[in-house]
Amino acid sequence: MDTKQLKLMTLDEAVSRIKDGMVLGIGTGSTIELLVPEIGKLVNDQNYQIIGVCTSERTEAQAKALHIPVIHVNDATHIDLAIDGADEIDPQLNLIKGGGAALFREKVIDEMATEFVVLADETKLVDYLGQTFKLPVEVDCFNWRLVMKRIAAHIEGEVTRRMVDGEPLVTDNGNYILDVHLAQQTDPYAFHEFLIHLTGVLETGYFLDLATEAIVGTQQGVKVLHH
Ligand code: A5P
Repeated sequence: MDTKQLKLMTLDEAVSRIKDGMVLGIGTGSTIELLVPEIGKLVNDQNYQIIGVCTSERTEAQAKALHIPVIHVNDATHIDLAIDGADEIDPQLNLIKGGGAALFREKVIDEMATEFVVLADETKLVDYLGQTFKLPVEVDCFNWRLVMKRIAAHIEGEVTRRMVDGEPLVTDNGNYILDVHLAQQTDPYAFHEFLIHLTGVLETGYFLDLATEAIVGTQQGVKVLHH
């Protein structure tokens, strides 16, 4: 099975977590893109009263096109359940996110949710964060190069600004993304603390102690992992 088929395998479990009347945080990425039509079916075919709170403009456009009611996070008093993808999942269900450049809004919504369920294919499971993916960090455009140099000096490693088609990627918040190569011994908690206090850093792609459950499509079937 290819990764898309593995992602598709997670959808039934994910849908079973969604209850009528929920305020639902809706993530970003190719896995969630597969889930949104299923949410649409709950709303349109089963008359579920769901309100979505979206983690990116892209997801919001898809949700609205499928007539899923959405509200802005500032208008949400609570979020019952957030469902989102991940770029890496370690054995403690700590995550790296931000491959789709939506990490700031994802963190706002995922950490607000009572339950935060991650959907992924098994290629996202790692022994330690940074094993297969660089850490995305959202930074202000004004001093991005200074921030990049400070991070590179701190880790004595590679930091790059994310580019798309030869142009810097600009997030929904009007910022840039730096991708930081992590050494195996990096302590995610300490490194997040270092990064978040740099003037110009909006947020990091570390999602630590946030996920309550991971639903993972594997060649052997769906695995449900708990924190
Ligand atoms: C978006 O910024 C990311 O955090 C995604 O949730 C993550 O990259 C997973 O994406 P896929 O579902 O496309 O693998």
